[in-house]
Amino acid sequence: MAEITIDIPVSTPYRVHVGTRLLEAAGSIARNAVPRAHKVAIVTDTNVGPLYAHIVRDGLEEAGFDVATHVVTAGEEHKTLATYGSILESLAAEELDRSDAVVALGGGVVGDMAGFAAATYMRGIAYIQMPTTLLAMVDSSVGGKCAVDLSCGKNLAGAFWQPAAVIADVGCLGTLTPERLADGCGEVVKHGAIADRELFELLEKTPFTFDLLVHDLSLAAAIIARNIEIKRDVVAADEREGGIRKILNFGHSIGHAIEARSGYTRGHGSCVAAGMVAMARGSRRAGWNASDLEDDLAERIDALCRAHGLDTGCPYGTDELMEAALHDKKRQGDAIDLVIPHSIGAVSIERCEFEQLRAIIELGLAAQAGDAA
Ligand code: GLY
Repeated sequence: MAEITIDIPVSTPYRVHVGTRLLEAAGSIARNAVPRAHKVAIVTDTNVGPLYAHIVRDGLEEAGFDVATHVVTAGEEHKTLATYGSILESLAAEELDRSDAVVALGGGVVGDMAGFAAATYMRGIAYIQMPTTLLAMVDSSVGGKCAVDLSCGKNLAGAFWQPAAVIADVGCLGTLTPERLADGCGEVVKHGAIADRELFELLEKTPFTFDLLVHDLSLAAAIIARNIEIKRDVVAADEREGGIRKILNFGHSIGHAIEARSGYTRGHGSCVAAGMVAMARGSRRAGWNASDLEDDLAERIDALCRAHGLDTGCPYGTDELMEAALHDKKRQGDAIDLVIPHSIGAVSIERCEFEQLRAIIELGLAAQAGDAA
């Protein structure tokens, strides 16, 4: 098992536990992480609850906690103020007090909503993240971002609220659908591309697949742990995304536009994959990284995404993507900070006018279609 300590200034340090049979160990880990708590509320969803909630509940009860369980309907479309309100009401009905804790058992949607409920219930109580998807293990459970969607866009109401512990049982990954596993792979490829050439090259040799989970679970766990270390280094330096944390958005400006255009029917991982490739191709042709660009950068990112089952194609035109990008919550007036790749493991953050983003998208899509030299 790997244990990674996340030490963010002004927050209490917490541990991320990565390994197998950790659902069963949740009670003892929670006992150390939230020693003052008497009650814990497991928040889970209709997909994950039937699989794992009873295991976690038994472990927590054995460790001496009173346990309540709140089950929300699975799906991003339920990441709403109404569902968030129902979690708060249930914490109040179960009479949790300020010393008690929430356990978020599920993927990113559950983690985000339960985290936001914990951040705001009685002005903030402790919570433990138990991510059950690859995306949640390598990205959303670490770093304290939690939110719900509003009708105008995703994650528009939220907080930075660090968990007291993260418990990632890699045994849970075997029950994911291929698309859900690929969603996480988009972030795994991204972490290699922005910060770790060695990880990127390891994935080129050994992609993160169901095959890897079956044949080499310890390598899979080591890859997940490395991803968490990368995220730790970024969020420890910049919790509130004033600077370096923005590198985690590589591929996301164009990716979110593709996701919105698809009516959120296309998987997040493949939207980010298409966004990373368009950004790598477009920024090269627009001359953003001319001095130190690695020639085959875009092609390697493209190939690695495809090796992870991620479609990197984009069926939308520049105008359609720009219209969606105008609603990006990271927009600042007529500008947006973009993550420009230079070589595998090295990126920069550049403030771009919207017209410059338009040029990057146009050139990126043209290159993709083979129209450019
Ligand atoms: N998922 C990007 C971040 O946590 O900043």
